[in-house]
Amino acid sequence: MSLSTSIHDIKTLVLSFHSVIVIETVEEDRVISLLRSTAAQLEMPFFEWSVTRGLARFPGTTSLYGTGDPLILLKSLEELGEGMFLLKDFGKFLNDPAVARGFREVSQRFAKKRSTIVITGETIHLPAEIEHAVVHYELKLPGCDELRRVVDALVRSLRTSSGVEIQLSSEDMAELLRALSGMTLNQARQTIAFAALKDGRLSPEDVKDVLERKAQMIREGGLLEYFPVEDNRFQLGGFGRLKRWLERAKIGFTREAQELNLPAPKGILIVGVQGCGKSLAAKVIARQWKLPLLKLDSGRLFDKYIGESEKNFRKAISLAESMAPVILWIDEVEKAMSTSGGEADGGLSRRLFGAFLTWLQEKQHEVFVIATANDLSILPPELLRKGRFDEIFFVDLPNADERRQIFKIHLKLRKQDPKKIRFAAAGGSHRGFQRSGD
Ligand SMILES: Nc1ncnc2c1ncn2[C@@H]1O[C@H](COP(=O)(O)OP(=O)(O)OP(=O)(O)O)[C@@H](O)[C@H]1O
Ligand SMILES: [Mg+2]
Repeated sequence: MSLSTSIHDIKTLVLSFHSVIVIETVEEDRVISLLRSTAAQLEMPFFEWSVTRGLARFPGTTSLYGTGDPLILLKSLEELGEGMFLLKDFGKFLNDPAVARGFREVSQRFAKKRSTIVITGETIHLPAEIEHAVVHYELKLPGCDELRRVVDALVRSLRTSSGVEIQLSSEDMAELLRALSGMTLNQARQTIAFAALKDGRLSPEDVKDVLERKAQMIREGGLLEYFPVEDNRFQLGGFGRLKRWLERAKIGFTREAQELNLPAPKGILIVGVQGCGKSLAAKVIARQWKLPLLKLDSGRLFDKYIGESEKNFRKAISLAESMAPVILWIDEVEKAMSTSGGEADGGLSRRLFGAFLTWLQEKQHEVFVIATANDLSILPPELLRKGRFDEIFFVDLPNADERRQIFKIHLKLRKQDPKKIRFAAAGGSHRGFQRSGD
């Protein structure tokens, strides 16, 4: 998401009398610069607070005496009047009844005069009486403009401080920025600094290292698996209809299609028996379209804490969007989205499903979704309605010709010459094929 969009969003919230904004993020520095710019545009004084430093006005004033104490802070807020106040990690202090009461009084007063408190923290759990008075703002991962600004500043300082040579054309730089998408600003800064200092130069070869670092970060994040375009060598036998469809649909990603305001393909659902190549098909589509692939394992979304699973889902989606154009593969979609279990999970699957449908319907980014499922019967019918996915493919067991193609692929993978094999004799039962495929 671009910086100007975030500034516009926060400005709109402030001007529409939202007196408390909650931003859950690990990117505190980024929030600070976002709020400073927003406050400057609104011509509002900007203050920062932390329990260690107390409350201080930006730029560079000393903090107000004693305001490290949350109760004294709240008193000062009442006296100070108009402004934007960033309270770092303040969520934790709201579990104290006196602080919570004082906070509500301040926020009610602020709502009348367009002053705003912004609470940040990595995970924020608010007491119910506070929760209904706040608005949550989701800070999306940095867009290309923010990444560019950070990289430019870093490159300048590395050049002067460490004599790093920059050997990047403007196209290389664009590719580097694309490779950085999906990272936080801090991660991007560290990755570039590491790549540059390793051998004293920043060159086109570093793009590969950046992609590897990103793959590692995504893996560590635990929600998604990342398959870069470069490593994708998967091959798929059969699937004639799907392959023909892909050939046609790829036109939807072209500049010509964009110029005609044609929407890019949204996604497909692949349903079929176990082992028939659904997962492989997802990987092959990414290969054919030369797009990176992100795999979302439905089981990993679930978290024992209320609200965390939805957050995980939003996180995964926002990571995928930041990396667009990309393919998001949701494996075993029925595990996350099946609503047949009723309220057994407290309605979680239903909520996740609702969030998924809304996103699928409204998504603006070029994120092509491939959902795979074994069991169509437990998927909610809304998902199967025309218009959600571009197409639904049912994959049956392969026929004789398809078995031959698959067999050839696997023989070649194992460095065997398919010409030496008599397929009519080898391709006996379906079961025989499946075992050889695994
Ligand atoms: N059409 C095919 N072409 C080439 N190999 C195939 C094909 N179908 C299956 N295979 C082989 O069988 C293996 C299993 O297929 P895959 O994991 O894609 O099946 P799946 O439909 O996703 O199964 P599951 O429902 O268990 O997830 C693949 O890794 C591949 O080696
Ligand atoms: Mg599979």
